[in-house]
Amino acid sequence: MTKKENKKKPFTLFNNETGQSVELPVLMGTEGPDVLDIRNLYKDTGLFTYDPGYTSTASCNSAITFIDGNKGILHHRGYNIKDLANKSDFLEVCYLLLHGDLPSPEDKQKFENVIQRHTMVHEQLVNLYRGFRRDAHPMAIMVGVVGALSAFYHDSTDFSDINQRMIACHRLIAKIATIGAMAYKYSIGQPFVYPKNNLSYCENFLHMTFSVPTEDYIINPKISKAMDRFFILHADHEQNASTSTVRLAGSSGANPFACIAAGIASLWGPAHGGANEAVIKMLEEIGDISRIPEYINKAKDKNDDFRLMGFGHRVYKNYDPRADVMKITAHEVLKELNMEDDKLLKIAIELEKIALKDPYFIEKQLYPNVDFYSGIILKALGFPTSMFTVLFAIGRTVGWISQWKEMIEDPINKIGRPRQLYSGKKARQYEIVESREKKSIFQWLWKN
Ligand code: ACO
Repeated sequence: MTKKENKKKPFTLFNNETGQSVELPVLMGTEGPDVLDIRNLYKDTGLFTYDPGYTSTASCNSAITFIDGNKGILHHRGYNIKDLANKSDFLEVCYLLLHGDLPSPEDKQKFENVIQRHTMVHEQLVNLYRGFRRDAHPMAIMVGVVGALSAFYHDSTDFSDINQRMIACHRLIAKIATIGAMAYKYSIGQPFVYPKNNLSYCENFLHMTFSVPTEDYIINPKISKAMDRFFILHADHEQNASTSTVRLAGSSGANPFACIAAGIASLWGPAHGGANEAVIKMLEEIGDISRIPEYINKAKDKNDDFRLMGFGHRVYKNYDPRADVMKITAHEVLKELNMEDDKLLKIAIELEKIALKDPYFIEKQLYPNVDFYSGIILKALGFPTSMFTVLFAIGRTVGWISQWKEMIEDPINKIGRPRQLYSGKKARQYEIVESREKKSIFQWLWKN
């Protein structure tokens, strides 16, 4: 059944030049701004809309995540992210995102069992890892291995079948942690570690990442809790770049493994998931509290490309609620590991303090985002910076697959096909090569 569309009085667009007017339906969501329904705009007026970066465009109708960026609010299926981070656990949040409600005790148990049973990967995937150079970035490995999953799991690629669809969802949530841990092991030349079914999702991930055949990894419950919270805080975030990439790839009917690989590729960019890695690099480069003003000035300088990494957000024009939880967790983790004097944490706290009082950041509503403190936690846990975005991808996989599933199950689902404002050459005649100007028009190309 098509999702219910609540309508308000239509919005009238009037063209002063032609006198033409058109009525656009206005749709109401349960929360957030109303939206102009422009589906018939081109048919009725011959006009497209122009919105690079989709700053004013709702690309879908979704019931998963709600953000009020001005108030700094993030809800998953109606539940506040802070409540979920403090009271729930990652697999429960996975169930919530995927199915719409918190599980009953019986369903929680069953869901945990199902995910545990899918954590192993096909043994032949090991050969795929061996094909990568040792110094390959783990995100490059993630894109390749996740994309290859459809070549291994043929029994879950016919997603018109609800059973296969659900198996694909469960496989991705379960195997992404194993795949991420294997990418890490491969990069440091240690043997892969098999998952253990008696461990929780996060304990298992830490075990696969940090244990070695010669020595068991002793799981610290506080560290495992911090990892769990990190995954919860990254689980979903509405129609961001990587999620929109997953939806766009999936809209053509591509299989879910390929769609998630596309999402991972999009997440890798420094303006998105790669920012947590960039924050640590920036804090290390600053190196000392005394140099913070110099970097604040660089960030404000229009002639300098430098931006304060971990600051600013397309949607949040207030403190990112995830950054709040992340900051508290950073303090807890460093205390647990007797690292309270951590130099990077001190620089980060001071940098935040100075930026939040600076008129440039105040005027542009630039606040710390989820990435600002997350890198400090991950570094303290022993992850190299190259693994930070992999950890983001592990947490976000459930959001991607829930959004993909919602799209597949929406009868309105159409292949994504944006239009454009064309500014290229008008139609012109083809000239054979002998009659074209002799001089090269691309000198720079041949220098490389
Ligand atoms: N440091 C300095 N100035 C900034 C920053 C920053 N971190 N972020 C934005 N600005 C400035 C821009 O220069 C621009 O100034 P102008 O209006 O004078 O041209 C203005 O603020 C608006 O910036 P836009 O880039 O237009 O905002 P947009 O919504 O497109 O970008 C983004 C959001 C990409 C997150 C941006 O704030 C940024 O690059 N931040 C740093 C990278 C980062 O932390 N990314 C993680 C995002 S969260 C996530 O993906 C999980």
